[in-house]
Amino acid sequence: FMKRRKKWSRYPPGPASLPFVGTMFSIDFHKPHHSFSQLQKKFGNIFSLQNCWTNLVVLNGYKTVKEALVHKSEDFADRPYFPIYEHMGYGENSEGIVVARYGHVWKELRRFALSTLRNFGMGKKSLEERVVEEAGFLCSAVKSKEGKSFDIHVLLNNAVCNIICTIVFGDRFDYGDGTFKRLSQLVQDSLDQETGFLPQLLNAVPILVRIPGLPQKVFQGQRELMDFIDVVIDKHMKTWDPAHTRDLTDVFLKEMEKGKAAEENGFHYNNLRLVAVDLFTAGSETSSTTLRWALLYMLLHPEIQSKVQAEIDNVIGRERPPTMKDQASMPYTNAVIHEVQRYGDIAPVGLPHMTYRDTELQGFFIPKGTTIITNLSSVLKDETLWEKPQEFYPEHFLDTNGQFVKPEAFLPFSAGRRACPGEQLARMELFLFFTSLLQKFTFVLPEDQPRPREDGHFALTNSPHPYMLRALPR
Ligand code: HEM
Repeated sequence: FMKRRKKWSRYPPGPASLPFVGTMFSIDFHKPHHSFSQLQKKFGNIFSLQNCWTNLVVLNGYKTVKEALVHKSEDFADRPYFPIYEHMGYGENSEGIVVARYGHVWKELRRFALSTLRNFGMGKKSLEERVVEEAGFLCSAVKSKEGKSFDIHVLLNNAVCNIICTIVFGDRFDYGDGTFKRLSQLVQDSLDQETGFLPQLLNAVPILVRIPGLPQKVFQGQRELMDFIDVVIDKHMKTWDPAHTRDLTDVFLKEMEKGKAAEENGFHYNNLRLVAVDLFTAGSETSSTTLRWALLYMLLHPEIQSKVQAEIDNVIGRERPPTMKDQASMPYTNAVIHEVQRYGDIAPVGLPHMTYRDTELQGFFIPKGTTIITNLSSVLKDETLWEKPQEFYPEHFLDTNGQFVKPEAFLPFSAGRRACPGEQLARMELFLFFTSLLQKFTFVLPEDQPRPREDGHFALTNSPHPYMLRALPR
């Protein structure tokens, strides 16, 4: 008992906790990374909070986050339990990947997703060819705006969402398709509904989730997204031919066929729908939001846009579609895309982790079961490591000879066991969509529009406020 008490005396410091709500009023849940940066100044790189009865520890700065996620990878690999997802079908033995507890089933499903993404050839087109093809559709849709002022948000969402659709369900949708419009909107709504004070409160006080009708009301978008996915999977199962693998759903169905052992590894129907919804939510909004930041920064920094276009003209020309091979010869474009990710800071607080066992970090004691927030924003803008952390400055990723370099503190995909398994795909999407667009168009701010805001709107991802642009054919 004395030993344990001694350990607790080394628990990280934090703001004063109120009865019942804990420190919830110390945080602006619509801009948590801003609140964290204030608290970091006061309490240091490791501080504690309390959401009602849930203990949280927030990790700040590159050194701290790396030490936890990479050097003590297993200690920090668990995820907290989220009661707010129960109504979607998440629960014991059905956890998908993103919110799954650390353990055997999560490992199996994560390995499955990674290898399926990697081997995506599946007979027909490679994933790269699919992204190139989709970039062509995206450019045609942009061209049809005839240089007039428009908001490119929906088109970018469509293009990126179609890549996930192809991976998971083997097909893309036309941008005008009514069902598809609904799907993109639902992915957005479902993310919006996860942020703010109420979802945090419901997670912290699960009994409230049992109030009849409440989850349906608060999370209606998530419910509808799940229904949508169920319909597509059902259709898929009816047309399944084990001899022809069309997509990730087919590979999963094949695993399910293997019987009881496979089921124990997590390959059952409910996990199929949850893995599908995980890939939709984790893999579409993230890439499309990054592209939205990319074009916003091009509007604000026309000289940078011109330099990217000069490199495209030089390496690819105006006609041939870009390929991933071009990336190695395009250090400036590559640096710009990396700087978009750093400065755009689209997952500022990552996803919550949880300690898998009692652990120590920089002399602090953190008990098993503590929710851990990795403040990725404080890494991407770590003042001790970046030359101009609060500016859009592609030179962060270039050496003195103009060659591409990647500083260690570039962690937009997080690190360690839970690091984003979609990183390769995301890199491909960002490079191919961005270069295809800038090869064909110059993006300018419409004369009647105000200068777009550089601060973001936080709803799990940090996304730009709506803005208009004109795409002038080159
Ligand atoms: C997890 C970032 C694109 C699938 C994550 C995490 C981050 C992240 C920060 C949390 C890691 C952690 O818990 O420490 C991004 C960014 C993207 C992107 C910035 C694009 C620019 C994608 C794509 C996919 C994807 C395209 C899927 C095809 C996932 C999954 C997880 C995840 C399944 C959960 C991993 C686990 O819990 O084991 N991502 N992501 N992401 N991401 Fe991504």
